[in-house]
Amino acid sequence: MSVDHKAMHKPVSNVVSNPLHNPPHNTMHRTALSLHNLTVTFAAKSSNASYTAVKDTTLDIADGEFVSVVGPTGCGKSTLLNIAAGLLRASSGEVTVLGEPLSGINTRAGYMFQAESLMPWRSARDNVMAGLQFRGMARTDAIKRAEEWLERVGLAGFGAHYPHQLSGGMRKRVALAQMLILDPKIMLMDEPFSALDVQTRQLMENELLALWETDKKSVLFITHDLEEAISLSDRVIVLSAGPATHPIGEFIIDLPRPRDVAEIRMTPRFLELHEQIWSAMKQEVLKGYQQTRNKLVA
Ligand SMILES: Nc1ncnc2c1ncn2[C@@H]1O[C@H](COP(=O)(O)OP(=O)(O)O)[C@@H](O)[C@H]1O
Ligand SMILES: [Mg+2]
Repeated sequence: MSVDHKAMHKPVSNVVSNPLHNPPHNTMHRTALSLHNLTVTFAAKSSNASYTAVKDTTLDIADGEFVSVVGPTGCGKSTLLNIAAGLLRASSGEVTVLGEPLSGINTRAGYMFQAESLMPWRSARDNVMAGLQFRGMARTDAIKRAEEWLERVGLAGFGAHYPHQLSGGMRKRVALAQMLILDPKIMLMDEPFSALDVQTRQLMENELLALWETDKKSVLFITHDLEEAISLSDRVIVLSAGPATHPIGEFIIDLPRPRDVAEIRMTPRFLELHEQIWSAMKQEVLKGYQQTRNKLVA
């Protein structure tokens, strides 16, 4: 099959006036998550000044689609994810989850953040089953499900261990099981593996893909790491540097699946995509870096 790669991503310019919410491949699918025309302005604590972190941003994630959002540090990635999670309200714009407008916490989604989120006083098993218990499931049933999930994430036999007795990678596996046991339709992940060493990180990325392939959920994956974004995703959205962050490019990742994230990075198509996306991102990363530096100097 010959593919016209040039036709597969939209031009980098003019994205905002030609919003990203209806890419051609989405027409076959239902939209799982839709962020429409979001603007987020934070008020400064000490003065009347305000900071518009995100402006006029639209992005849609189809049923079963794995979408990554990349952008320089401080551009507004976590802000977008927090809005999708219902933890933060946009100043204007709408969020739709499985066709319903979102108000309050997004209960159809599971979250995984960069920071450790396990409860240190609970064993791995008790951490994994916590959500089921909060939902009122009987303890014996919850234990059974938790054991099954520990096995699925490669932690059979570790249920009685406490978080401090597990490695960083193992704790991330527990967090994955904790999220997936609730069977969310949507997974919201904010740089979940960035604290891990490279090898562990790649193992976790492969683990995540394997779990995702068996039970295709819609994923919004936030990262500042372009290689991670390409190797995992069906689509990569590039954000501008702040203020008034907005998407400046969208790229379909037509790499075959199943993927091994370490191996896929050595393929010519990966390198080609990396070059295209990096050329869209480079200026923004430099701008973002300069802003962070100025803040530090000021
Ligand atoms: N609650 C807040 N109040 C004021 N400014 C905020 C708040 N949250 C985030 N910001 C600012 O909004 C911008 C985007 O932040 P964030 O979404 O965390 O960036 P990223 O996740 O891309 O690194 C940053 O300049 C940050 O300082
Ligand atoms: Mg962030």
